[in-house]
Amino acid sequence: MRTKVLFVCLGNICRSPLAEGIFKKLIAEAEENGDLTADQARAFRIESAGTGSWHCGEPPDPRALRVAKENKVPMDTLGRQVKPSDFFEFDLLLCMDTQNRRDLLHLSPPEHRSKIRLLRYYDDSAHRGKDVPDPYYGDESHFHDIFLIQARCCRNLMASLLKKEEP
Ligand code: 4NP
Repeated sequence: MRTKVLFVCLGNICRSPLAEGIFKKLIAEAEENGDLTADQARAFRIESAGTGSWHCGEPPDPRALRVAKENKVPMDTLGRQVKPSDFFEFDLLLCMDTQNRRDLLHLSPPEHRSKIRLLRYYDDSAHRGKDVPDPYYGDESHFHDIFLIQARCCRNLMASLLKKEEP
């Protein structure tokens, strides 16, 4: 099973840390309901990073923190930038938008490019392959909107990993 997943956005203070928290919560729930053993749950390594460096060391955006808290999602990371070792240490690098994916494809050694895909590759068919819109310059309603998108994609990602249908 692919267990090492890096969620990637631009700043690593809004979208990718929220996706990281959502997926960590899904792992805990899957362990509670018996879909994952304790050993399998422990084998996951879930992190997030940004393609930009402006917010390194900073906590998530307060609007993202509020949406996370409302939904009982853990969100306790500090911003960090994607680094060269990420490409071989992670099994999947899931990007929030096409610009993030373009940037990662440019940075990645060729042999690791197949690990890079959009988070919305895991969305339902009508929305597959779209961007998770950048909420940074929007208002708090945009954070609620992206939460719903990310929760849907992360549930599908977990189902796909559990079925071992990942290529
Ligand atoms: P994120 O949002 O990529 O979802 O973390 C952004 C955060 C900061 C900036 C842009 C997007 N910024 O330009 O500083």
